[in-house]
Amino acid sequence: MENSKKILIELVNVYKEYRVGEISTVALKNVSFKVYEGDLLAIMGPSGSGKTTLLNMLGLLDRPTSGRILFEGKDASKLSDKDLAFLRNIKLGFVFQIFNLVNRLTVFENIELPLIPRAIPRSLRSEMVREALLKAGGEPEWLKKKPNQLSGGQQQRVAIARAIVGNPPIVLADEPTGNLDRASAKIIIETFLNLNRKGHSVIVVTHDPEVANCMRNIYVIRDGAIVGAYEPNPSESLISKMM
Ligand SMILES: Nc1ncnc2c1ncn2[C@@H]1O[C@H](COP(=O)(O)OP(=O)(O)O)[C@@H](O)[C@H]1O
Ligand SMILES: [Mg+2]
Repeated sequence: MENSKKILIELVNVYKEYRVGEISTVALKNVSFKVYEGDLLAIMGPSGSGKTTLLNMLGLLDRPTSGRILFEGKDASKLSDKDLAFLRNIKLGFVFQIFNLVNRLTVFENIELPLIPRAIPRSLRSEMVREALLKAGGEPEWLKKKPNQLSGGQQQRVAIARAIVGNPPIVLADEPTGNLDRASAKIIIETFLNLNRKGHSVIVVTHDPEVANCMRNIYVIRDGAIVGAYEPNPSESLISKMM
C-alpha cells in the first residue's frame, strides 16, 4: 500500500550553500527526502538547522547549490524561473509564521491573489475565495475587512485560505503557529488535519513538539542534515492537550 503512493517531491543529495560576500554558510548537506501524496509531515529542529531552507527547496522557492529536486518526476533544474513560478502557483500553497498578508488589500483580495495569474472568471473566483475561507475556519464577515482588523489567529486562517484557494495538492507551512496562542494554534492545526483528510499533502515546520505530535510522521533536522524520523506521540499532541 505504502509503496503504491505517488511521490510528489523528491530531493536527491540536495546541498545548499549561501554566500554573502566572503562568508559562506552550508544550510543543507546532501539531504535526500521524499514527499508522498497524502503525507502529513512535521519537520523539527533547532533555530538555524536548515528547516526554512529545506521548505524553500521543497516549495521550489530557491535552487540547490548541488543535488536534484524532482517535482512530480520532473527535474526542477531543467525548468525556467517562469515554469517554476507556474508550478508553485498551481501545485503549492505556502503558509508563513508572520502571515504575510497585504494590509492595504481586503481579506477577500488577499485570498484572491493566487488566482489572479489564472484565467478564472470573476464570479467563480469569488466563489473559490469564499469556499477557501470557510475551509480554513474563517467567517464570511472578514472578507471586507483589512487583515490588521483581525486577530493573529484569524489572520493565519486568512493566510491558509490564500494558500489553498487554488486547491494545491501540497501545502507547506513554516512555523505557522509560532506567533499564536495555544487556542489559535489548535484551530490552525485542526485546519491542516482537515485539509490532509481531503487529500492535500501537508508539511509543517515547527519548534513545538505538541504541534509535531499532531502530524503522521516527524523528521528532525540538525546542522543541515535529517538526523531522525519519529512516530508522533498522540497523547502529547496539542489537540489532545487542549481537549
Ligand atoms: N538568505 C540567506 N543568506 C545567508 N545565510 C542564510 C540565508 N538563509 C539562511 N541562512 C543560513 O542558513 C542556515 C539555515 O537557515 P534556515 O534554513 O533559515 O534555518 P531554520 O529555518 O531552521 O532556522 C542558518 O545558518 C542561516 O543563518
Ligand atoms: Mg526558519
